[in-house]
Amino acid sequence: MVHAEDLKRRAAAHALTYVTDGMRLGLGTGSTARHFVELLAEKVHGGLTVLCVPTSEQTLAQAVSLGVPIATLDEAGPLDLCIDGADEIGPGLALIKGGGGALLREKIVASAAREMIVIADASKKVEMLGRFPLPIEVVDFGVNAITRQVAEAIRSAGCAGDITVRRDGDGHPFVTDQGHLILDAHLGRIPDPAALAAAVAQVAGVVEHGLFIGLARRAVLAGKDGITELEP
Ligand code: 5RP
Repeated sequence: MVHAEDLKRRAAAHALTYVTDGMRLGLGTGSTARHFVELLAEKVHGGLTVLCVPTSEQTLAQAVSLGVPIATLDEAGPLDLCIDGADEIGPGLALIKGGGGALLREKIVASAAREMIVIADASKKVEMLGRFPLPIEVVDFGVNAITRQVAEAIRSAGCAGDITVRRDGDGHPFVTDQGHLILDAHLGRIPDPAALAAAVAQVAGVVEHGLFIGLARRAVLAGKDGITELEP
């Protein structure tokens, strides 16, 4: 049996073939992105020149520790490519992201890139998004009121399910790199991701949601039978 970490690393290694000298790269967050940063660091030490914008403090710390050249998004300017993982990859390469809580910076960085490539093990591909709880980043002021309005927005988009405030390992509310909270919407199925994205985005207090629609240009999936590339 092939271990999931091996598959993630294979997807990351394949995505590295899209990186060329001089590129400005967005670096994703999570275990798959972590493999990519490790492999990228090896190339950098072999002479590859890149400038990278991490999507989280976690990835920033990893990149710095491995000697990968980093910059802020504003220092770097427009990016050539963003490489990141995903929690679910649905039809048209609509994604759920934010399992690691980095969705806000991830979406900003992906949006600033000419192209986004998603890397994952093949189990992340689904026929319909929603089994993975949808992360929604909100401000901490009036979180109960915001949660009620998010629930109403979700219903208006034809979905339903519990919404929980994400907690860290100590039971405290999870706080994002930008100082916000995360609501996890346990919906089971999202028949119309675009309608849900539009409805949730309208709620005052919602900073961003984990539906990435129209951002990924390519998905690199690693399964036991090899690499598959998907386009929207
Ligand atoms: C972090 C993310 C990650 O890309 C997503 O959670 C996938 O992580 P992993 O590669 O560990 O499965 O969106 O906010």
